Formats: sequence, C-alpha cells, structure tokens
Amino acid sequence: MVTSSAPGKVYLFGEHAVVYGEPAVPCAIERRARVTVEERAEGVRVHAGDLTLDGFTVEYDDAAAGHPDVDVPDSLVEAGVGYVNEAISQARDAADDGTAGFDVTVDSEIPLGAGIGSSAAVVVAAIDAATRELGVELSREELADRAYRVEYTVQDGQASRADTFCSTMGGAVRVEGEDCRTLPAPDLPFVIGYDGGAGDTGALVAGVRDLKETYGFAADTVAAIGDIVRRGEAALADGDVAELGRLMDFNHGLLEALGVSSRSLDAMVWAARDAGAPGAKLTGAGGGGCVVALDETTETATALEYTPGCQQAFRAELDTDGVRVEGR
Ligand code: PMV
Repeated sequence: MVTSSAPGKVYLFGEHAVVYGEPAVPCAIERRARVTVEERAEGVRVHAGDLTLDGFTVEYDDAAAGHPDVDVPDSLVEAGVGYVNEAISQARDAADDGTAGFDVTVDSEIPLGAGIGSSAAVVVAAIDAATRELGVELSREELADRAYRVEYTVQDGQASRADTFCSTMGGAVRVEGEDCRTLPAPDLPFVIGYDGGAGDTGALVAGVRDLKETYGFAADTVAAIGDIVRRGEAALADGDVAELGRLMDFNHGLLEALGVSSRSLDAMVWAARDAGAPGAKLTGAGGGGCVVALDETTETATALEYTPGCQQAFRAELDTDGVRVEGR
C-alpha cells in the first residue's frame, strides 16, 4: 500500500493566454490531494472520501466504469472516475503490467473544478502511488508528462501542461507550450476565496477563442497577458510583492475584458483589494470558482469571509514540495 499526495495550484499569471502559446506562471499551494493505492487481484475499486462528492465507492473494470449509487451529478462522478481510470492506465503502462488491479482511495482538500487544480493533483498523486505500488519509481519529468496525457485524454485535448507540471514539481513554474521549467520564488502569502461554484472550462476557452478570432483587440489582449507574465517573472525573481500585486490586478482586468470573470469573482477581487491586498485576480478558467490574492496580513481572508458570494476563504503558502510519498 502506498499513499502519495500532490498539491493544487493557483495561476499567478497567464491562464487562457497559455492556450495560445503565451507563457503562464502557476504556483503550487499547500492544499493537497492524497491518493492511497493497494494492489488487488483484479479490477479497480475507487473510494473517494472527500471530493465534495459526499463519499462514494465504485467498482469497475477499466473503461467499463460502473455507476455508483450516489446523490451527486453524474457528470461530476464520471469526471472523477475518468481521471482515476486514466491515471491507472498510465501506471499500468509505466510498469508494463496491463492487468494489475487496485484499491484506490482519494481524499482531497482542493475544491473540484474551481480553478485550483484538483484534477491534476489527484492524477499526479494517483500515478505516483500506483507506479510505486508496482515497484516502479518514475522521474518527476515522466510523472508530469504521464499526468498531462491523462488530462489531455479526459478533457478531449483541451489541456495545457501547466496544472500537472506544477502539481508534480511544486513551487512556482513557467509553462510556455511544451517548455516547462521551475522558477525560484520567494514565500508568497496567497489568500484564496472560493464562491462554491465551478466554471465550464471548455465553454470559457471557446469563448475566448471566438473573441480572439473576431476582434484584433481581443488578440492584442491575449498578447498583453503574455507581456504581464514576462514582467511578472522578473518581479517574482526580485521578490517584489507590490509589483506582483499590480500585475495581478492588471491580469484580472484583461481576463474580465475577455469575458471569463463573473459577478462573484469580481466581488471577491474587489473585497481583497479594499482590504489592502497588494493584488487579486481570478485563477484558472474563471466563470466561477476561486480568486487568489496576495496578503501577508489576515485582512483579506477576513474581508472575503464577509463578502456575499464567497463561500470559503483560506490562506495557503506556496508549496515547494510537489508530489511526495506520505506513507507505505
Ligand atoms: O480552471 P483550470 O485550473 O483547469 O485552468 C484552466 C486554465 C486555462 O488556461 C483556461 C486552460 C488550460 O488548459 O490552460
């Protein structure tokens, strides 16, 4: 039996623009998904204790996913099972053992579909735990690549390498197309506000693509986000939190212009700014989900807790560890 964990992430800069080849800088946060894997004779049995699914157990054999009797939307269950299923396929492939059976238990502190990388964290931890259970130790690069392939498959080709690379490596990373690297970064005082909702990533990405193809100024907006990311990298290297905050504010404004913010996300961004946060922006696909602010004080988290539309606010430091083994 092996338990591995991997962190969620926020986008400091660059979501959406990364889809068009601009760089993005995601940062891992100290909120983790833990996956325990134990080999069994055949088939795969998944238990998800805390995926905001209220706990479900499902037995299935590979692609022929069984249907759990739980009171949550099928789409959520199917998505969750789909990620675990593909992660197990990758582990079997890596270990050259196409029929290995597993008991898989997933526990996650990361809200689902909210722009902070829950699926990537589950996939990275699941591949790590399952390969180790089969006696194989993957390099972090191979693990990140296999996790990316899982997201690519489950999300019908709509995936960048950002989430999975960040969750594997930890810390701040820079992703530009196929080029993924880690960045030195100071401790960053992230505060996250969550509206309890989730955006439809596919629809939001398609909306930005339409705008970009219709209007030259929308294409310029995407390119301007790339400029912000490049300036942001320099601010990160200097540990200049005030400049990072200004650039986050600007990045949020451009995402808002591209139509991917929402009333609750804007309300949380403004609450953070009013509380004195050096900067705040939505993180991930948008439409609902999470905002990320920088604030060393407790003011922003407190202000968010009192903001209508904010369901949960929490602090999370930069996680420098990435994937790790929690127990055997
Ligand atoms: O909401 P998330 O964490 O899945 O992030 C989506 C980020 C996008 O740039 C909008 C899409 C992508 O795959 O990079």
